[in-house]
Amino acid sequence: MARTIKIPGMVDPHVHLRGMEWDYKADFASETAAALAGGYWAIFDMPNTPPTTTDQTALDRKLTAMGRDAVCDWGIYFGASQADNTAVYAAIFNAVCGLKIYNNQTTGDLLIEDQVLRDRIYAAWPPPRVIAVHAEGQTVADILALVREYRTWTHFCHISTAEEIDLLRTAKADGLPVSVGVTPHHLFLTKMDVNCLGALGRMKPELKTQADQDALWAGIADGIVDVVESDHAPHTLAEKESDKPPFGVPGLETTLPLMCTALRDGRITETQLVDLLALNAQKIFKLTPGADTYTLVDIDAAYDIKRDNLRTKCGWSPFEGMRVVGAVREVWIRGTQVFDGENVLVASGFGQNLFGEQA
Ligand code: NCD
Ligand code: ZN
Ligand code: ZN
Repeated sequence: MARTIKIPGMVDPHVHLRGMEWDYKADFASETAAALAGGYWAIFDMPNTPPTTTDQTALDRKLTAMGRDAVCDWGIYFGASQADNTAVYAAIFNAVCGLKIYNNQTTGDLLIEDQVLRDRIYAAWPPPRVIAVHAEGQTVADILALVREYRTWTHFCHISTAEEIDLLRTAKADGLPVSVGVTPHHLFLTKMDVNCLGALGRMKPELKTQADQDALWAGIADGIVDVVESDHAPHTLAEKESDKPPFGVPGLETTLPLMCTALRDGRITETQLVDLLALNAQKIFKLTPGADTYTLVDIDAAYDIKRDNLRTKCGWSPFEGMRVVGAVREVWIRGTQVFDGENVLVASGFGQNLFGEQA
């Protein structure tokens, strides 16, 4: 008989759903359906897609569009901007899951390299909402200096190197309020894979060495890593095959099976799987889903990842051809079955904002 695991309220706190001006890449309807197919209850959308979520108008537009289109529950990050938008934080923080600061170059134009501006941002952002950061290498230390000063909960997105893991291990030992996310692509691919994958293996942070990947798994083993987040960042195949391919890969539908495969291979325990994909993110973002919000995944079902079986609008995967275990059989949200293993069972707009008035 197939073994099924029940996971309470899976959360992916790091996705780029695109939509609006980038809805040719992906949109809120297609990508929230992909989230359900990936087993997720809730996903939190990043602010770097035009129009960037850096002012009240853009936030309202995204809140309205997500409210209309989403089939899973959701949150939206506000984005810190070079133009210093700290004055609006007080008005918007309640409606968002947190603030995102881009501290190194990546997709979009929200890069902030000025430590003085970063300091102003930390001073202005009101706890208890979290700050999520894109920080690589030495920039992790720069951000940790601000966490030490302001003590605002800071989630370090897509950590990818042994050096960064060491910095965060020390920060945690010092009692700083930090959490650590790693992605499936950094856990299952290395820079060697770029030879085969080409642009489909290019994202920020870039794929790293085997030693770096080993440090991420060691960080999972000793609890330094809190969350496995997809960093779902769809771009069209045509864009990826162009002369100047953008950075980013999709991941909403492949994260759970990859982690189920790690479970089968003895790399993680069932408790760690549930913590990494659900419970730790719930704690970081202070969410308490009811017992009627859960996912059933058949951990014996084996299959090859194929682009034709994915719902993400971009229609490709860096993991194509990998043999995995873990098939999502049922997803339930607030007592309603929303996915049966093949079909989305609810209409657009079923999904709720988990933050602000509607929460
Ligand atoms: C992300 C995107 O395309 O929006 N790209 C990526 O390579 N991860 C941005 C980001 O997460 O840095
Ligand atoms: Zn990033
Ligand atoms: Zn990202």
